Amino acid sequence: MPSSALIETSSSLLQQSRDTSALQKLGVSFEFPQGFDWGVATAAFQIEGAADVDGRGPSVWDAAAKREPDTFYKRHSPAVAADFYHRYAQDVASMAALGIRSFRMSISWSRLLPQGRGRINEAGIAFYDRLFDLLAEHGIEAMVDLYHWDLPQALAEQGGFSERRIIDDFTAYAALCYQKFGDRVTRWSTMNEPSASSHFNPFSPAKGNIRQQLQVDHHALLMHYAAVRAFRESGRAGQIGAVTAYVPVYPRSLEPADVQAAALQQAYVTARWLDPMLLGSYPQMLLSHEDVAANLPTGFVAECEQAFEPIDFIGLNYYTPSVIGHKAGAFLESETAAPFAAQSDYGFVNYPAGLFDAMMDVKHRYGNPVIYLTENGLAHDSEKPGHDKLDDQDRIAYIREHLRAVNRCIKAGIDICGYYYWSLLDTFESTSGYRYKFGLLQVDYDTLERTQRQSWHYYRKCIANNAVE
Ligand code: GCO
Repeated sequence: MPSSALIETSSSLLQQSRDTSALQKLGVSFEFPQGFDWGVATAAFQIEGAADVDGRGPSVWDAAAKREPDTFYKRHSPAVAADFYHRYAQDVASMAALGIRSFRMSISWSRLLPQGRGRINEAGIAFYDRLFDLLAEHGIEAMVDLYHWDLPQALAEQGGFSERRIIDDFTAYAALCYQKFGDRVTRWSTMNEPSASSHFNPFSPAKGNIRQQLQVDHHALLMHYAAVRAFRESGRAGQIGAVTAYVPVYPRSLEPADVQAAALQQAYVTARWLDPMLLGSYPQMLLSHEDVAANLPTGFVAECEQAFEPIDFIGLNYYTPSVIGHKAGAFLESETAAPFAAQSDYGFVNYPAGLFDAMMDVKHRYGNPVIYLTENGLAHDSEKPGHDKLDDQDRIAYIREHLRAVNRCIKAGIDICGYYYWSLLDTFESTSGYRYKFGLLQVDYDTLERTQRQSWHYYRKCIANNAVE
């Protein structure tokens, strides 16, 4: 039997739940616990713009957009983006009108430390001071990622994540953030999707070289532990954790070789980060597989065990599952297989039941940790006529079905404390530039005017009702 048949069965409840009126007749409600953190997620280099303003240093994205503009869709650059740097007051007012309790954002490392270390840019500190003060005035909590992929270019030129020195540089930057903003930020995350530091960052020198990638990723883990330790030492109140993607991996069939390949990929894409961050160990399955074992940095296991620092929560980004089959001779003997559900314009497979499977795995594997669902969202391709629309009923359906899945998780005893839609605004999406639109607010990149999409109103209603219908 193909595994997709099982998956269909496991998701039947969720599919039935699409019939709202039938559910209402059955008295099924989707209320969220009091105090549930409704939020939106963003990242500095994807919305701030003001790349050359007030003393900010370039990040790897700014440098790449200048160095190799043709790598980017229509030569887009993050130089202006949604200009959040100048328009944050308007955007915070929108957040307040939306009713969110928590704003997930990141700090631009090179805005605070233009060279990545050393001289502090006071104008950068002042910007985040203004932003945190304004959020507090509106009763919106700031959930801050210290690092969301925007390495200062000056550090990249000295080897970036490949060099051990990055651990001390990151720790010093983290300590500066705790010192300056720790009185207002109550929830910190050391980094967003660290796998992206090497695997998805098109400018990483480690890209495509497994040995170098594992070295870079090892440094990312040590940076994470060190930044957690620095937070504890700062004496600041609040919580600290990290954010990773959770991509549930399903086997192409129930043939043992496919099941094994899928399990290996699952360990590689998720447990490889979650195990060290939540347990201080490394998935045995990978340690004993020659493709990984032969390439791990010397002393990796001992060093992780020694440096491990427990965290207060884990942030998980859920967008898509993947399907994997066996392929002899390939890395981890696996290959990507055809998806079993429809793909969005962005290529993500729209599969809310995967969210439940992912969260259930985390609950069981890691002893029911506190979870924030830190990203989930649907993008439209602005190239496709009629897709980038204000009346975005498909995004509304996407949010509804994923919120129902979150609700189902909570009822199953999974400790999900908040949901963050990606994103408040349309964003700069790596080398895709401004092509794909994720925002509840549409951004006109000529005028920088924001317009509410229908999904903005829908999400506002969910927040106001503390429930999804
Ligand atoms: C990620 C990143 C975001 C992306 C978002 C949509 O998880 O990939 O955190 O920077 O913009 O996921 O692609």
